[in-house]
Amino acid sequence: MSDILVDSVFRQDVIKGLSARQKYLLPKYFYDARGDSLFQEIMQLPEYYLTRAEEDILREKSSDILQACITTQTTFDIVELGAGDASKTIYLLREALHLQCSQQYFPIDISANMIDHLNQNLPCQLAGMRVNGLSGEYFPMLAQLQASRPTPKLVLFLGATVGNLSPAEALSFFRDLHSYLNLGDYVLIGFDLKKNPQTILNAYNDKGGLTRAFNLNLLERINQELGGNFNLANFIHYPVYDPITGACKSYLISTCSQQVSLDDGTYFDFTKDEPLYMEVSQKYSEAEIAQMGREAGYEPIQTFFDRQQLFTDVLWQKVIS
Ligand code: AVI
Repeated sequence: MSDILVDSVFRQDVIKGLSARQKYLLPKYFYDARGDSLFQEIMQLPEYYLTRAEEDILREKSSDILQACITTQTTFDIVELGAGDASKTIYLLREALHLQCSQQYFPIDISANMIDHLNQNLPCQLAGMRVNGLSGEYFPMLAQLQASRPTPKLVLFLGATVGNLSPAEALSFFRDLHSYLNLGDYVLIGFDLKKNPQTILNAYNDKGGLTRAFNLNLLERINQELGGNFNLANFIHYPVYDPITGACKSYLISTCSQQVSLDDGTYFDFTKDEPLYMEVSQKYSEAEIAQMGREAGYEPIQTFFDRQQLFTDVLWQKVIS
């Protein structure tokens, strides 16, 4: 997509969100170069347990996960939605080679840079694994695969990315995904679990202020790319966690009455203490996850936990068409 088109979609989304009665911004826009690097740092934070917990699952349980998918003599393709740098997936891929159940990995990612990196580097680390990265949106890429290969699939959607959707959006996402799968295909999904509310809140309110910087960076991006004049000092980062719904929501709160404009003349009035909704990071119980799987047309096959039971990777199978 050309820069002009990207700018205009970003601009339209920002204008729509900041003109809404309850102002919001879309979290997919967190990830410019600075946002990517802040998120890399967040994943290393002592408070941000999610990445370490899922890595623990994949390091320790990859063999069990794959054994659960080996039902016939047929090998399967491993497809990953939002593969990123595949640093956790590599445990699973290594084990797949060892068990001889898969020799074909299709990472899908919106970032063409990331896909080029995987296409070049992964085969050197995983001799025998064919890597065919696809850069683009998930469903068009899955449709392309579905049309060209009848091979059974294990689709990975790791890293609690699904948590950045509301439960209703997640259900609809899994129903859509279902239509790109064949009967018998598997999906492995990373969900963050409900737990001690303070542990969750701390993960999104780190002492060093990286998560605060990650949220404010989106205002900075609007300033840079859309000629905005946000004064970052006029917003405070305010995360909240509701242990009943499992929604951990991040807001930026306007500390004064202010007007913010873009270079095309559009402007937005903020009242003092007005919240700007940035992101949900949804947490689930084991029962809620299984119920969502069934409602979306899958059979929950097995649930894998890290040693501290903070996080889960669940394996579902498409059983009805
Ligand atoms: C990408 N996603 C799973 C992260 C999360 O935990 O919701 C994004 C994030 N936001 C603040 N910290 C991390």
